[in-house]
Amino acid sequence: MSDHVEVVAEGGILTVTLNRPDKKNALSNAMYGKLAEALVRAETDAAIRVVLFESAGPDFTTGNDLGDFAAVAAGTLRREEMNSGRFLAALARAEKPLVAAVPGLAVGVGVTMLLHCDFSFVAEDAKLSTPFCNLGLVPEAASSLLLQARVGYAHAYKMFALGEPMDGRTAAQIGLVTAVVPMADVRSSALAAAKKLAAKPIGALKATKRLMRDAQLIQATMNKEGEVFGARLRSPEAAEAFKAFAERRAPDFSRFS
Ligand code: COA
Repeated sequence: MSDHVEVVAEGGILTVTLNRPDKKNALSNAMYGKLAEALVRAETDAAIRVVLFESAGPDFTTGNDLGDFAAVAAGTLRREEMNSGRFLAALARAEKPLVAAVPGLAVGVGVTMLLHCDFSFVAEDAKLSTPFCNLGLVPEAASSLLLQARVGYAHAYKMFALGEPMDGRTAAQIGLVTAVVPMADVRSSALAAAKKLAAKPIGALKATKRLMRDAQLIQATMNKEGEVFGARLRSPEAAEAFKAFAERRAPDFSRFS
């Protein structure tokens, strides 16, 4: 299970690779645990200066494993056992630069984690979506705050409410990501940025990030979102969405008011 997230330290860069391509790198509970550990290691190990998130295969990640969401909804996985909260808390606290390479699909937390990354490179035809409402859920990872801070309310609400995929060009145009590049250059562009950052004075980089991001407000927003998210996971709307995904059909929300 642990090899679904590979972690390699080299030249001051901690490369964290999502490696579950047969499930489009959907994040299982175990994977969240590894991601949280990697971020804690990066913050505490003086040899690490930058974290680089990348992925195996053509996709970045299709977000939280919907099987785990369904298990929480059914009561077979307790929310306290979910490692996603530890990962999100580590993102909120991160002071060292985070860089991401997004070659293809990025869904849910695959997009909202980019709001905690300081550099993100996406492919022209990458598809970014935050279909929380489509799943009967609400935004997480402090994205209710951070997405509109990056792209404005109009784009943010549309992304949350409709959950439609946005291509990489549009994501760069509205300021959601740092740059759009051809798919073949996504990883090399992200690595080049990580190398540049690794050569900078880390004290100044960390102090700059502390000035630009209010970690306490971000964590408080995550807590507020988490309460609503937990309730929504057990809602009839979410149950219908998870059932529909498992049955490979479109959900029918018409009976809910
Ligand atoms: N959780 C669990 N399994 C997932 C997954 C997820 N988030 N995303 C993809 N998978 C699995 C599929 O079940 C499928 O498994 P199978 O081969 O055992 O049937 C495999 O990965 C390939 O995905 P598939 O759905 O066949 O690919 P697609 O190209 O037809 O569709 C998506 C791609 C992204 C549209 C579709 O996979 C999807 O909607 N995934 C869920 C995304 C989501 O809602 N994430 C949570 C956001 S909060």
